[in-house]
Amino acid sequence: MTSPTPPLLYIETYGCQMNVNDSEVVASVMREHGYAMCSAAEHADLALINTCAVRENAELRAWGRLAELRALKRKNPRLMLGVIGCMAERLKEKLLAQEQAVDLIAGPDAYRELPNLVSMAKTGQKGVNVELSREETYAEIAPVRYDGNGVSAFVSIMRGCNNACSYCVVPYTRGAERSRNVQSILREVQALIDSGYREVTLLGQNVDSYSVRSDDGKTVACSFAQLLEKVAMLSPALRVRFSTSHPKDMSDEVLRVMAGHRNICKSIHLPAQSGSSRVLELMNRKYTREGYLERIAAIRRILPESSISTDLIAGFCTETEDDHQQTLSLMREVGYDFAFMFMYSERPNTKAARRYKDDVPEEVKVQRLNEMIALQSELSLKAKLPYVGKSVEVLAEGFSKKSKEQLFGRTSQNMVAVFPCGSHSAGDYLTVTPTRCTPATLICA
Ligand code: SAH
Ligand code: SF4
Ligand code: F3S
Repeated sequence: MTSPTPPLLYIETYGCQMNVNDSEVVASVMREHGYAMCSAAEHADLALINTCAVRENAELRAWGRLAELRALKRKNPRLMLGVIGCMAERLKEKLLAQEQAVDLIAGPDAYRELPNLVSMAKTGQKGVNVELSREETYAEIAPVRYDGNGVSAFVSIMRGCNNACSYCVVPYTRGAERSRNVQSILREVQALIDSGYREVTLLGQNVDSYSVRSDDGKTVACSFAQLLEKVAMLSPALRVRFSTSHPKDMSDEVLRVMAGHRNICKSIHLPAQSGSSRVLELMNRKYTREGYLERIAAIRRILPESSISTDLIAGFCTETEDDHQQTLSLMREVGYDFAFMFMYSERPNTKAARRYKDDVPEEVKVQRLNEMIALQSELSLKAKLPYVGKSVEVLAEGFSKKSKEQLFGRTSQNMVAVFPCGSHSAGDYLTVTPTRCTPATLICA
């Protein structure tokens, strides 16, 4: 007897690492309900776009992709189409208003409901659930890492965000912060180790506020520093990374745990957003330039070998040339190894959209962003040069983009290196000696 072919699920993911991991949760939920993954929408019975709403561009991309998938659906009416994730949460009404736009819509806390939403959609109704939850952490759902490299995996340790950065839509799309229980995190990481993974990245919008309370709720039973240590102690062969730290919350204790464990990667992502205390205040980031630099000094003191990366926004409301110069000077002062840089994009209903005018002209935003990118390119190169001619340990992750004779991997400092395969393959730790570098890559001949 032949078994019936399973229905096929295709997922396309936009946005941050959290979304990548959420898609893996969705794959797990749907697999339990008989779906198998496929890698092209053309073959799928159900196609989901996991969307991001953080900047207008991210949403425009999703609308564009949705139009293409809708065209596909006209050719193949059997195809069910769903929008999930942050933009689904934000734009439910708009998505529903589009005539025959999508069959189902699910927000980030509604993924357990997907099979029911699919059933509803099959009866011709719209399957919609964008309710946010105070408890959902998908703790015991084992994400299916369908698109992974078998070496490195994301593990969500918390969801939502309790901060209120004035520019940011995330608290609206992902709801209140909640921490996932410790045991389920350790079990997931152990299972990854057992199946050959060599690196995990612990994910949260603000990992420093990870906190599990004691049974009576009176004390903190596990802080982020403690969780980090527990994860690191599962295996010395497992590298541990995490993202994102918040400058107002990052503690010396976390830095000391990092210093005490060789397998916790020496790399900290500490978004500054701006170098101007005046702008930081408007952004409601709850630290000043000086406070931020004090945290940088703590990293340099406790973890001198750590790399530091950041996120920066160009052209936030009221930003003057002087504020912008302060961002450039902060970049020089810290000497970032890497930075994600964005033009400010007003998000409807955020505090900034309600209270401040998006008054920096587009061309000024572009110019400031370009100046930041040019400076960061210099800084990235400068950060890599000291590694040329020195031996560094890398974890091989896969073939380099350019050639099957070369592998790429990362150093503990999160620098990408490319090197000849030799007898190595993905998942191996090896020591290499870069012979030259670009701002983005250490290159080994
Ligand atoms: N929780 C993380 C990251 C959140 S979103 C943190 O607090 O750092 C990732 C980055 O997107 C932010 O750090 C910020 O630099 C950028 N971002 C968020 N909202 C934005 C907006 N409205 N316009 C431009 N960039 C934005
Ligand atoms: Fe957004 Fe701020 Fe929360 Fe990060 S910490 S997700 S920038 S509100
Ligand atoms: Fe991530 Fe974008 Fe949502 S950055 S949290 S997918 S709005």
